[in-house]
Formats: sequence, structure tokens, C-alpha cells
Amino acid sequence: MGEAKKLFIKTYGCQMNVYDSERMAEALGGQGYVATDTPDDADMILLNTCHIREKAAEKVYSELGRFKPLKAERPDLKIGVAGCVAQAEGEEIMRRQPMVDLVVGPQSYHRLPQMETAVQGGAKALDTEFPEEDKFEHLKARPKASRGPTAFLTVQEGCDKFCAFCVVPYTRGAEVSRPASRVMAEARDLVERGVREITLLGQNVNAYHGEGEGGDWSLARLIRELAEIDGLERIRFTTSHPNDMDDDLIAAHGEVEKLMPYLHLPVQAGSDRILKAMNRKHTAESYIRLIERIRAARPDILISGDFIVGFPGETEEDFQQTLSLVEQVRYGQCFSFKYSPRPGTPAAERAHVDEAEKDDRLRRLQALLTRQQREVQDAMVGREVKVLFEKPGRMPGQMVGKSEYLHSVHVAAEGLARGDLRQVRITESAPNSLGGVLV
Ligand code: 5AD
Ligand code: SF4
Repeated sequence: MGEAKKLFIKTYGCQMNVYDSERMAEALGGQGYVATDTPDDADMILLNTCHIREKAAEKVYSELGRFKPLKAERPDLKIGVAGCVAQAEGEEIMRRQPMVDLVVGPQSYHRLPQMETAVQGGAKALDTEFPEEDKFEHLKARPKASRGPTAFLTVQEGCDKFCAFCVVPYTRGAEVSRPASRVMAEARDLVERGVREITLLGQNVNAYHGEGEGGDWSLARLIRELAEIDGLERIRFTTSHPNDMDDDLIAAHGEVEKLMPYLHLPVQAGSDRILKAMNRKHTAESYIRLIERIRAARPDILISGDFIVGFPGETEEDFQQTLSLVEQVRYGQCFSFKYSPRPGTPAAERAHVDEAEKDDRLRRLQALLTRQQREVQDAMVGREVKVLFEKPGRMPGQMVGKSEYLHSVHVAAEGLARGDLRQVRITESAPNSLGGVLV
């Protein structure tokens, strides 16, 4: 047997890409590849890309440029582009960067082994189709190696919502849910291998409607069934659309102990005029009422959100309504972005807000969000939380893990192992994490 080939994967964008990168590494494991964490000694480099904003997409080309000397030195090195830029730009990538050997869209990863064989033979390989089959079923089963305490599990892909700013319906395609039995089997397998917390992933995960026993299962049903798995301690899910938060899912937050009190529920803007232009199909008021209902079911839930400033047509008055919505909701975590026109999306054709104005609004929004997040985090001091420990902390002698609310918590490592779930009293709040002591 020859020496194992080395595979370097660099992942951009969302958690679904993180999950996909793991599965791609497993698929190529069958072709004799082992993972390496540097491009310098790799036989194959894969960039798993994101197309959500212009900056994310442009990174791909600058990163490819950096690999040029490597490829010049070692012409046998194979370079591939996967993910949403691959889907959106396809062949164009090879035109712009002829050293790219392989371009594969997110729906075609099960075809990677054949594509790898083709590029080894000196050919170029391109696949950006939307095949009918479930790509995850055709990817090799996850090998039985043990793994860390937390894992992602993609249960749903694609989106039918067509927000006017968003490329996802074009790069990931229409909404598709994986069958419940397969999700359950994958979850059981992960737990057998040491996983204690699973985050269910989907671009629109709360629209999940996977074929299951007795008809389609909703996300709430799936969560309730997953909660029955012994050894699985925590369940999370992301990302959700407000219009798919049904009563049962809201109730589950109050009833299912293993479902963590954290919900990422993007609203994007606080002005009804802008929400309408974004094609969000909800109002600021309906979102705030929804948050109230969720908090009635689970009073301590931490709410997280996404915002876009400077969407085409957004006036200062509209923006003020975003600030006012933020004040009302009190976010514990938030992500905010300047609007970035994406080719092929409806909003890209509209008149844009001045760039300096966007910068200014982003600065003001982030100042407010940072203050809120800090307040929510500081309020943890003196409280007891449960922490799932994941790895050594930044300072020697520390371990770090996540609380129920997804705050990072540092604790003196003595007597702690990776994967421990322990009660911790919070004693301090630093800018990006909490500190505490075991109880
Ligand atoms: N410009 C800026 N932000 C965007 N997002 C999605 N599309 C765009 C865009 N064109 C943001 C949204 C979404 C998050 C994943 O990225 O806030 O929720
Ligand atoms: Fe980026 Fe969206 Fe693709 Fe995730 S699904 S990688 S966020 S474009």
C-alpha cells in the first residue's frame, strides 16, 4: 500500500459548511486521503466556500492566488473548490483560475470519489447539478472513530423563502428534508462515538418535515424523539425563520429538558416597509409577539439574531425602527452585516444606499448590540450554569466549554475531562467569555 495522500480542507461560511467539510473528508478517506492542517504538504486542497456576501466570495479568489506557488512547485497538487461559490460560479472559477482541477456544488459531494479519480487522471471535474438523490446517503458512512463531545448534523437543506437579498435558494436549491429514520440513525451513531450535544442544521431548519413513522415529522417531533436517546444530553438547532416557529416547537422549548435555551431567530430589520421589500412575510410586531410567546414557554431563553443594514431603500427612519426593535427584544447574541448585492437576487437590481451611510448604520447598530450582549452575559455572574467541556482554555490549566446559553465558560481544569458536563458557578464576565468555578 502506498503512503496516504494528504487532504487540506479550508471551510468558510456557515455551520452547514463545517458539517459538509467533515463529510467530504470522510468520502475522500475512502480514496486514501488523511486530513492535514496545512496546505504546505497537501496532495489535495479543497476550499469549501461561501457566497452569502461579496466579501466571502472574493476571499476564494485571493486564497486561490496564494496556492499558486505551491502548485508551481508541485504540479501534482490538486486544487478543488466546493460549496456555494462553486455552485454559483461553476466553470467561471476554472476560467478565472485555470489551476483549479475540481469544482463541486453542495448537492454533489457524494460524487467526489469519482471526481477525484478523474482529476488524478489529469482531467478537470465539474459538478454543480441538483440531483434527486440524498447526497448524505451516498456519502460513505461516518467511520467509527471516536469524536469530540459536540457535533453538527444537517437535517434539512435549501430554502423556498426567497428573501430578496439572499443567494441561498439559488446555491443550495429548494427545501429538502432528510428522512427522520436516517437522522435518528446518524444521531445514535454519533452518540455511540462520544457525542453528547448535537446541533441540528438547516438553512431553514424549523421548516423540517422529514418522512418518518406515521407521516412527516416536524422539527419538534424530531427533537422529542432525539431527546429519548440515552447519552445524548443536549440538542440545539439553527437557523430558523420566524414564520416556521410553530406552536409545538415553541412548546418543546418549555417541555424538552435536553433542548437548550438558545434560539437563533433572524429578523433582519425592524421596519415593516423594509421587511416587505425584503420579502420576509412577517412584520416587526409579529416578530416581537413571537419572541414573547417563546419567552412565555422558556423564560430564560437566550435570543440570537441576524441584521442587515442599508438594504436598498432603507432610510434613517427605517433604520431607527431596527434600533427600536433591538431595544425591545434584548438580544444575547447577534450578527449584523452591511447589505451586499448578490448577483441574480431581486434586491441587487435596486438603488443602493450610500456605502458611507451603511458603514455608519452598521457602527451604530453594532454598538447597541454589543452593549446588549454584554449586559446579558454580565447578568450570568453569580448564577449557576451547566457547562459541557470541550477543550483546553486559552490560559494554561484551564478548560473551556459552553453553557446552556452557548456562552464560553473557562474553569480551572483540575479534575475535568473533555466531554464532562458539570455545574459551574459564574464568577466573572470578560469581553468574550465567562469564568467560573465547579460546584
Ligand atoms: N447582504 C448582507 N447580509 C446578508 N445575509 C444574507 N444575505 C445577505 C446579503 N446579500 C445575512 C442575513 C442572514 C445571514 C446568514 O447573512 O442576515 O441571516
Ligand atoms: Fe454561505 Fe449560505 Fe452557502 Fe452557508 S449556505 S456557505 S451561509 S452561502
